[in-house]
Amino acid sequence: MANDSLGDGAPGFRARAGWTREHAARIERTDDTVAPVIYPPEDDQIPHLHIWDTWFLRNRDGTLAEVDGYRVCFSLTAPSDLLPGKRHDVANIRCFYSDDGRDWHDGGPVFEDALGQRQWAGSALYDDDGSVYLFYTAAGEDGADDLTYGQRIVGAGGGTIDTAEGFSLRGPWTHHELLHPDGERYEREDQSRAMIYTFRDPWFFEDPETGETWLLFEANSPVPEGSDVCDGDAAQQGFNGSVGIARSPTGDPLEWELEDPLLDAVGVNQELERPHIVYTDDLYYLFISSHLHTFAPGLEGYDALYGFVAEELRGDYVPLNESGLVATNPENAPFQSYSWMAFPHDDEVLVQSFFNYYDFAGETLDEIAHLPESEQMRRFGGTLGPTLRLTVEGTKTRIVGKLGHWHVPMAGEKLPPTERELIRRA
Ligand code: FRU
Repeated sequence: MANDSLGDGAPGFRARAGWTREHAARIERTDDTVAPVIYPPEDDQIPHLHIWDTWFLRNRDGTLAEVDGYRVCFSLTAPSDLLPGKRHDVANIRCFYSDDGRDWHDGGPVFEDALGQRQWAGSALYDDDGSVYLFYTAAGEDGADDLTYGQRIVGAGGGTIDTAEGFSLRGPWTHHELLHPDGERYEREDQSRAMIYTFRDPWFFEDPETGETWLLFEANSPVPEGSDVCDGDAAQQGFNGSVGIARSPTGDPLEWELEDPLLDAVGVNQELERPHIVYTDDLYYLFISSHLHTFAPGLEGYDALYGFVAEELRGDYVPLNESGLVATNPENAPFQSYSWMAFPHDDEVLVQSFFNYYDFAGETLDEIAHLPESEQMRRFGGTLGPTLRLTVEGTKTRIVGKLGHWHVPMAGEKLPPTERELIRRA
C-alpha cells in the first residue's frame, strides 16, 4: 500500500518512503538480476561450522577495514553436525580473518558473555582510534528455560586487534542494550500478528554528506487491529516490515535514539532483513534481503536481495529496477543463497552471501510442493557463497559476474575482466 493511502489509522506508521504492492507486483527474474548457479566449493575452508549471516569489519566511512593487512569478518555460526534448520537456536558469533581475501581462518567465538540466549546478525565498526565495536541482536531472554523470540539490539565495546603474533581480536567486552522496540514506531512482540516479529540486524552507518551517525535495523511497523491500512485487509496488515533507524547525537557508537523508520513495506513484506547502505555516485543505495514466504498474500517474490535508491539518507527511496529486485537465485535453485550484503569496491558494488539450501529435489517449486519441507531441499551449504559483481547506475543494477566462494578482494585489488566485458571485447 502506498504511504499516502494509509491514513491516520496507523499510529507509528511514519516512514517517508514505501515499498508498495504496485512495485512488488513487478518482481520478475531477468538476465540482470539472476545470479549464476552455485556449486559446492572444492574445499570447505571451515568444515566444522555452519556459517550463514556474515558481515565485515568496516571503517566509519563504510569501506572494509584492513587491519595490518588483515580483512576481518564476523558470522553467525553453529556446529556443522547440527541440523541446518536448528542453527538459529544456537547461533554464536565468530570472527574470521584473511591476509589475502581468499583463505580465511577461524578466529574463534568473539564473546564469552554475550547477551541473549543466542546471537543474531549485526555489524562491526573499526573506529578511528583502533577500537572495535560489535552490534548484534540478542535473541531470547537470558536465563529462560525455553527458547524465546524477543529481540534486543546490543552494542559491545572494548574490542582491540593485536597482530604482533598473527591475528587476534580480544576484549574485555562490555555489552550495552542499545535499543528496544517502542511499540509506536516499532512493533513489540506482544503487538505482532505475524509468525515472528522482527527487531534485529543492527548496521552502523556514517552519512558521508552530513557526518551524522546512524544505526539501521530490521523492524515492523505497528498496524493496530481494525486499522484501515491496506483497505482494512487484516491478512495483508500482518505483513508489515520496515527499515528502522536510530541516530547517535554525538557519534558515540553506544548512544542511540530511535527515529522514524526509513522505509516500510506494510501490506507487502514481513521481513526486510539486514538493511544496509552503499553510498556511491552521491546516491544512497539501501539494500535488504527477503524471502519468498514473507510476501503478503497476492504478491509473489523470491528469496532475493532487494534495493532502493534516494538522493538523501531520509529521501524518497525509489525501488531499483522498478520492483526492488536486485539479485536472486536461479529458478531451479531458488534457495541457493541468502543474506546478501553489498559493499563498494572500485567502481563496482560487490555482494557477498552464504551458500544456503541447494541440491533441490525438483526443477520448480510446484514440482516439489507435495514433498515434506525437510525433503524439498536436500543439502545445506553453510559456508560463504561466491561474491557477486554488480554495476549500479541510477535506478538500474546489473549482475555482471562473480568471484570465488569467500573471495573478498583486498583494498585496491584489481578485479579480472567480467565475462560480459570479455564477450564485448571479442
Ligand atoms: C537472516 C536472518 C537474520 C537474523 C538471522 C538469524 O538470515 O533471519 O535476520 O539475524 O538470520 O539466524
